[in-house]
Amino acid sequence: MNLAMIGDRIVEGNQLGPEYLDRGLYFGDGVYEVLRSYQGRIFALEDHLARFARSMHEVGIHEPDIGQIRQRILRIFGQAGLPNAKIYFHLTRGSEPRNHTPRKGLLPNFFMTIGPAPDSTKDKAQGVAVSTFPDWRWKRCDIKSLNLLPNVLARMDAEKKGCAEAILVNEAGEITEGSGSAFFAIDAKRNELITRPLGHEILPSITRQHVIRAAQGSDLKVVERTLTPADAAGLDELFLAVTTKDIVPVIRFDGQHIRDGKPGFLTKFLIDRFAALVCQDEKTKTPAS
Ligand code: PDD
Repeated sequence: MNLAMIGDRIVEGNQLGPEYLDRGLYFGDGVYEVLRSYQGRIFALEDHLARFARSMHEVGIHEPDIGQIRQRILRIFGQAGLPNAKIYFHLTRGSEPRNHTPRKGLLPNFFMTIGPAPDSTKDKAQGVAVSTFPDWRWKRCDIKSLNLLPNVLARMDAEKKGCAEAILVNEAGEITEGSGSAFFAIDAKRNELITRPLGHEILPSITRQHVIRAAQGSDLKVVERTLTPADAAGLDELFLAVTTKDIVPVIRFDGQHIRDGKPGFLTKFLIDRFAALVCQDEKTKTPAS
C-alpha cells in the first residue's frame, strides 16, 4: 500500500492531487516569467515570451507553444482589469510520483497569477540599501528556472540587514547580479553606464535590455564589464533593474553610502528616459505589446 502524509493527515498515495506530485515542487523542475503592465499595456511582452521560449528549450520542456501562452496572458490580463499589473507564470515538467527522470509523455503544468504591480514610487525617490552575499547558484543562471533557493537565502540575509536586495558575488570576487534584479553602476566622470556582460552567470534581464535602450542617444556610454564590491562602492551611482519596479536607485552598499547617500542625478535621468520609453512603446504598439 502506498501512503502519503499531508500535515498530520494520512491519505492513500494514489489519492494525491497533481499539486503534490508536481516536479516543480520536488526538483524546481520548471521555468517562469514575470511581466508587468503600465497604464493598461503589457510592457515588452514579446521579449518576455522569447526569453520564456528559450528557457523552455534549454530545459527541454516543449509545450504548450508560445502562441498559446500569449493568449493565456492576454486573457487573464483582460479579465483582471488592472492598469498596472504584475503577471507571474510558470511551467513545470509535470506531475508524477517522485523520480529524477521524468516519464515519457508527461504533460507540463502551467500556472499563472496576476495582481497589482508593487508601488515603487518611494524606492525610486529615496533609493534602497543593498548588501552582498555569496552567489551560490548553479552554472546556468541565464535560464529563468524555478530553482531559487540560493536567491531566497540571499534575499533573507539582505532583509535581516535592513536591505532591500542582495548583490551576489561569485567565487572570483565579482558581482554577478541581484538576487532578483540586474545590477548597474555609473561612473559619472567618464559618463559610463556599467553592467556585467551577459553569459551563463546572469539572467538576460529584459529591464537591463531596455535600460541600455534608454541610455542610447544620451551622453552615457554603455560599458559591459565586471565589477567587484569595492569597485561598486567607490562608483558614483548604483541602481537595480527589474521588471516589477524598472529602475531603483541604490544609496547604500554594504553599509557604505554611495556618494551623498541620495539617488544620483544620472539614475534619475535614466528613470525618466525609461518612463518616456514606456510611453513611446504604448503609443506605437498594439494594446498587448
Ligand atoms: N526577477 N536577475 C535575477 C536573478 C532575477 O530574478 C530578475 C528578475 C532579474 C531582472 O530581470 P527582468 O528585468 O527580466 O525582470 C535579474 C523576477 C522579477 C522575479 O523573480 O520575481
